[in-house]
Amino acid sequence: MNFNKMGLAAILGGEASIKRLDHEARADALEDHMSKELDAAVTVRRNKGDYTVSELEAIVDKRGYRRGVGKLMVHEFNMRNPEPNRTGSKVTRLAPMTAKPTLVDFFRRRFEPAAHLLQSARLAMKNGASEEIVLACLLHDAGQYLMRADHGYWGAQLIEPYVSERVAFAVKYHQALRFYPDPSVGYEYPEVYYGLFGVDYVPAPHIRAAYDYARNHKWYMDARLVTTNDFYAFDPNVEISVDEFTDIIGRHFKQPREGLGHDNTPASHMWRTIVNPDAPL
Ligand SMILES: [Fe+2]
Ligand SMILES: [Fe+2]
Repeated sequence: MNFNKMGLAAILGGEASIKRLDHEARADALEDHMSKELDAAVTVRRNKGDYTVSELEAIVDKRGYRRGVGKLMVHEFNMRNPEPNRTGSKVTRLAPMTAKPTLVDFFRRRFEPAAHLLQSARLAMKNGASEEIVLACLLHDAGQYLMRADHGYWGAQLIEPYVSERVAFAVKYHQALRFYPDPSVGYEYPEVYYGLFGVDYVPAPHIRAAYDYARNHKWYMDARLVTTNDFYAFDPNVEISVDEFTDIIGRHFKQPREGLGHDNTPASHMWRTIVNPDAPL
């Protein structure tokens, strides 16, 4: 293995200090340095997404959280890398919620910056998707704030009382469709999934079954369009406000008068959890 001699000299206090070390101490220092460089090289390789399923499974108990946990429950930094023990960052203090929360309030006070949702919705709009699909793209990963595991299902359940069946369908099934290419619309398996799930990952049976079901459904293309507009190229210079979508939200999201969380639907408790994820019970 080639190693960085300059790095070793700097660590040991310069060339003069190295000369003062006896043979054994020099060998120890060299071994330690090479092992650190190897670790760094492995980390670089792994950041590119070369973990296998079993490697990812082997580090499950090396973390202080579970990877399926919702975005609001653990600092994003701790989630970004499959490496364990990245637990140094703290969650933020959340803004107080309005008395009668609207969907837009959630975007501003809980989902912010919501870049992925807003960019996906803008892309769908640019691609000429219907307003319902734009709304589905705007909400497609909202379930992840609560729970990442099976987020399509959580997300669909969260919005079901307030959107058309078709929008809820698209959000629910986009999760399964993400694993299956569709060359007819230029959709390929996402590269980021190699890192997230492991390079040799095979989707779970319920995901396969959901894909088969959706593939033969009359609304297949609605769910598929969510996957083709799933926008990941993050550009920090592009700022999108939820204001861009308030008209579409107004036309296609049935905002309850009492406010989300206070309207006694099967999803109200989910919105309340997003309002206050700090509740101990
Ligand atoms: Fe998703
Ligand atoms: Fe997404």
